[in-house]
Amino acid sequence: MGVNVPRVKLGSQGLEVSKLGLGCMSMSAYYGPPKPEADMIQLIHHSIDSGVTFLDTSDFYGDNEILIGKALKGGVREKVQIATKFGIVSREGEMIVNGEAEYVRAACEASLKRLDIHCIDLYYVHRIDTRVPIEVTMGELKKLVEEGKIKYVGLSEASASTIRRAHAVLPISAVQIEWSLWSRDVEQEIIPTCRELGIGIVAYSPLGHGLLSAGPKALENAAEGDVRKTYFPRFKDENLEANKSVYEEMSEMGTRRGCSTAQLALAWLMQQGDDVCPIPGTTKIKNLNDNLGSLTVKLTSEEMDKLSALADTVKGERYTFMTHTWINANTPPLSSWNA
Ligand code: ATR
Repeated sequence: MGVNVPRVKLGSQGLEVSKLGLGCMSMSAYYGPPKPEADMIQLIHHSIDSGVTFLDTSDFYGDNEILIGKALKGGVREKVQIATKFGIVSREGEMIVNGEAEYVRAACEASLKRLDIHCIDLYYVHRIDTRVPIEVTMGELKKLVEEGKIKYVGLSEASASTIRRAHAVLPISAVQIEWSLWSRDVEQEIIPTCRELGIGIVAYSPLGHGLLSAGPKALENAAEGDVRKTYFPRFKDENLEANKSVYEEMSEMGTRRGCSTAQLALAWLMQQGDDVCPIPGTTKIKNLNDNLGSLTVKLTSEEMDKLSALADTVKGERYTFMTHTWINANTPPLSSWNA
């Protein structure tokens, strides 16, 4: 096969990653039970051998950091860029966000331990704690950089003003956002802000959690306990019919061009600029190989426009929670819980 995976710089602090990353969440959590460890380690190794070396995880993805730590043994660590995240905490079935300095440090130490590495390449604030000034969270991250525990810092699902304030304390290398051809709201404010400040853009869920790559089949095959059935409005019956047609239109274009819908979705993102890196999630080597093929798909400007227009017909919110606004609405006051 041998697709050449280009390298890109995220931000201007020196972080360099593969143009396509690997979202590792569903190997361990949320889309049904954890997948067999040996298979997932094989998949991670295949990804790295293929040139996809930018691995994305979080301390909120079940035992995913431990899995990645195992996959990094035997000289693999030096070949990859590890991105992990902190800030969402599950307490008695409720999710809260913590950006306090003490917690930032404790979370970082815990991730380093689980990953069994000395330094995290890219450490993201997973969600913004609106009860703690972002300057406080960033101040502690700055200390962790100075101590060599993290190399670069990112924010996930932050507002434009938070990005600006954070960047003034410590230059941000990457902002992670849901950006895909059916989630384009970030193009209004977040992306222009990142570009103005020279911050790299990491696009998560570039395949619409599977709906853009497999259509409604993504849900039919979903295992018991898959959160998409419960929490993702776009997968609900009342919206699925409209959203199915987005996939069908993509299928038509894919058939004409001889490529998959996943490849169209990823190529559309990668053609947005050299500062954009999509991180499709997968648990299958076959799908990883398919995603690699997107690097050879060059869309015409007419095709780009046609794909861009599909977002107008999408029905349903991205989440019922988890966007940067849910914290304001749902979180209780800070109390006596610990890291
Ligand atoms: P996230 O990582 O947040 O779930 P995503 O990257 O938009 O979001 O979509 C991931 C989903 O797309 C996964 O369910 C994945 O399924 P597998 O684990 O079975 O691969 C699916 N997916 C990824 N690449 C795919 C491809 N090339 N063809 C079909 N489905 C794909």
